[in-house]
Amino acid sequence: MKLRYKISAGFFGLIAIAIIALAIALSYTAPCDDSPGGAAAAASGETMQAVRYSCYGGPEVLAVETVAKPVPEGNEVLVRVQSAAVNPLDWHYMRGSPYFMRLGSGIGAPADPRVGVDYAGIVEAVGPEVSKFAPGDRVFGGRNGAFAEYVVVPADRGITAIAPEVSFEEAAAVPIAALTALQAVRDKGQVQAGDKVLINGASGGVGTYAVQIAKAFGAEVHGVCSTRNVEMVRSLGADRVWDYKLEDYTQGSEQYDVIVDMVGNHSIGANLGVMKDDGVLVRVGGPKGDWFAPLKGPIGALLKSPFVSQELIVFVARITQEDLSAIADLMADGKVRSVIDRRFRLGQVAEAIRYSETGRARGKIIIQVDVD
Ligand SMILES: NC(=O)c1ccc[n+]([C@@H]2O[C@H](COP(=O)([O-])OP(=O)(O)OC[C@H]3O[C@@H](n4cnc5c(N)ncnc54)[C@H](OP(=O)(O)O)[C@@H]3O)[C@@H](O)[C@H]2O)c1
Repeated sequence: MKLRYKISAGFFGLIAIAIIALAIALSYTAPCDDSPGGAAAAASGETMQAVRYSCYGGPEVLAVETVAKPVPEGNEVLVRVQSAAVNPLDWHYMRGSPYFMRLGSGIGAPADPRVGVDYAGIVEAVGPEVSKFAPGDRVFGGRNGAFAEYVVVPADRGITAIAPEVSFEEAAAVPIAALTALQAVRDKGQVQAGDKVLINGASGGVGTYAVQIAKAFGAEVHGVCSTRNVEMVRSLGADRVWDYKLEDYTQGSEQYDVIVDMVGNHSIGANLGVMKDDGVLVRVGGPKGDWFAPLKGPIGALLKSPFVSQELIVFVARITQEDLSAIADLMADGKVRSVIDRRFRLGQVAEAIRYSETGRARGKIIIQVDVD
């Protein structure tokens, strides 16, 4: 074999070994740490109940533990959580799936034992640099560790006031789902009054907000859901509802300006067939899977994008104070409401997440944290 062939064979061999090693490392799941986490915390001062996990896996890895109650410092706000909400993101972190996300969440085991993001509650104390919030304020937002009695939040990120007429559970439902919907409809889809917009997955957490937000922007809104949710989606303002059990919107004759897709169950080509030439496809969610299933849609969009007139967008939402306030305003104006499906207690978070994983939630799943 010539030297250059040997060099290239060696080079590609090394790359193959590196990829296999990375795949093994990413898919490795360390056993759970059964040592009681709360003992040290309990000895050191005030404590709280919080959901924690020490290893990746199903809902059984979640446990309510006694841990140290956080103390707000500098620019931080301590919130006594009243309600929290479940998102698919919570079980993606719980399972460390898809595996590539472990590059951020921890290889082998979660780097951060806290669970939950969406919260609503009452400010209990503030750090010395905080002037915007005071004890007693009703607030909501997003912060890792929301499935707990208390959460500490930087005053300039992931926290804003709740309008007096909005309940804690309605507010807790908002952060990830409603901000994703807002950013998909307003920023990525750039929906304008008169646009024809399709929301695929209209009865889920993100979809219930997306229907209402697109409607609030003056669009003609079509939602896709199963038979049992048709009336609910219509009640949110949808002008037409496709019952996916009976009909397939990609086989219809409608031409959409914007499709916001939470499900990813139709190919990009099929979606393009029902979009106007200058239409926008916003991919919010897709099939679950440990390896390539979640990547297929985003990669397909990236590869197809240069060859079609429509815009194909894949995006990850961000929790910002401005957008929390924008949703709070829409709720205060009565243009957006939270659809609550089921309620669980803090000790039932595993059950709540198990329900979320079925993919059948109608609107949002609430964790009632501060109840007698
Ligand atoms: N990109 C981001 O930043 C971002 C942010 C948030 C969420 N996401 C992703 O977006 C997706 C949706 O999130 P979510 O919180 O809305 O989830 P969810 O609340 O669990 O969605 C459940 C809903 O999906 C509906 N559904 C299931 N199969 C469907 C189908 N074939 N056609 C139409 N609807 C269908 C279900 O309705 P039926 O029971 O009637 O089938 C149910 O109402 C997830 O994949 C999530 O990971 C992404």
